[in-house]
Amino acid sequence: MTYAYQRLPDPGAGLRLHLNENTGGCSPRVLEAMRAVTREQAAFYPDYGDVVAAAARALGLDEAQVLLTNGLDEGIHLVSNLWLQRGADGVQREAIVVEPAFDMYAACTDGAGGRVVAVPPLPDLAFPLDAVLGAMTPRTRIVFLTSPNNPTGLTIPRAAIHAVARAAPPDAVVFLDEAYVEFGREHFLDDLPRFPNVLVGRTFAKAHGLAAVRVGIVAGMAAPIERLRRVAPPYSLNVFAMAGLKAALEDRAYLRWYTGEVAASKTLVYEACGRLGLQFWPSDANFVLVRMGERAGEVVDALARRGVFVRDRSGEPGCGGCVRITAGVVQHTRRCLEALEEVLCGERR
Ligand SMILES: Cc1ncc(COP(=O)(O)O)c(C=O)c1O
Repeated sequence: MTYAYQRLPDPGAGLRLHLNENTGGCSPRVLEAMRAVTREQAAFYPDYGDVVAAAARALGLDEAQVLLTNGLDEGIHLVSNLWLQRGADGVQREAIVVEPAFDMYAACTDGAGGRVVAVPPLPDLAFPLDAVLGAMTPRTRIVFLTSPNNPTGLTIPRAAIHAVARAAPPDAVVFLDEAYVEFGREHFLDDLPRFPNVLVGRTFAKAHGLAAVRVGIVAGMAAPIERLRRVAPPYSLNVFAMAGLKAALEDRAYLRWYTGEVAASKTLVYEACGRLGLQFWPSDANFVLVRMGERAGEVVDALARRGVFVRDRSGEPGCGGCVRITAGVVQHTRRCLEALEEVLCGERR
């Protein structure tokens, strides 16, 4: 079996609610900072001192505890390459992937020569703790967890993460992907000193709207971060991304505004689901998974014809008939829900 990231074609003009992107665009201060980059700064190899300090401060960590990456994808790639290398014994290493999961975990595991051990979700898409513990072997080197999860939006109970970290073999890491954490209720960074085998992944693609700029972070205790730093490309972040990241970290008002829009948008989606009799999962992320049933594909196509792009997730384990809708700027969500009501109510007539 081979695995790959499912890159979607550009859907064209319309409302992009299919990739969990920030529908409001980044803070205007990000572009101001990028425009201020000088010709000399573009010509010299960058020094990351200031920006690493700012990122570490924002997370409440020491500088030795953070590695800036070219998007979180690069972090996933680096961790996979390092932890899944075959040892002198030649035995293939394993990564546990809890489904439904972000494509990159399996793709990077495969690319690094590791074996994907997929764990299906419980029927209600709840976190399958017992099955994850049961999937561990002496060959396990990474356990990929996502909290809040994509595409369910569900937060993994803290006690379950602790149990996984305690049960992991000594040479393994738990990679806890917190790509959507700014929209949720809790994060794991405070627990790192107690669980030094956990690495936390962050991205500035979502809440900060820097998906095309490509900035991510791997955070953890200093020892595993140092291991990663030794193999990471020394200049992963370009000078515009550095400038943008610093401005994004400073603009707390923008972050408050956008996370407020997302919270209000999710409420609108829940209310619409109530009116339309659709099952949904209350989400701690910037999207909502909605069960449309057998007509999921048709609904996605009908919305696309109206210029609203959402993602059919029916093919994901446990997600039969489900569609994932990004919840961003309220005005965009209202447009999407009007189109959805038109599609569904029009069909019923
Ligand atoms: C769970 C999860 N992790 C990581 C990423 C990738 O983040 P980045 O764009 O910073 O590479 C995504 C993007 O959709 C995601 O959903």
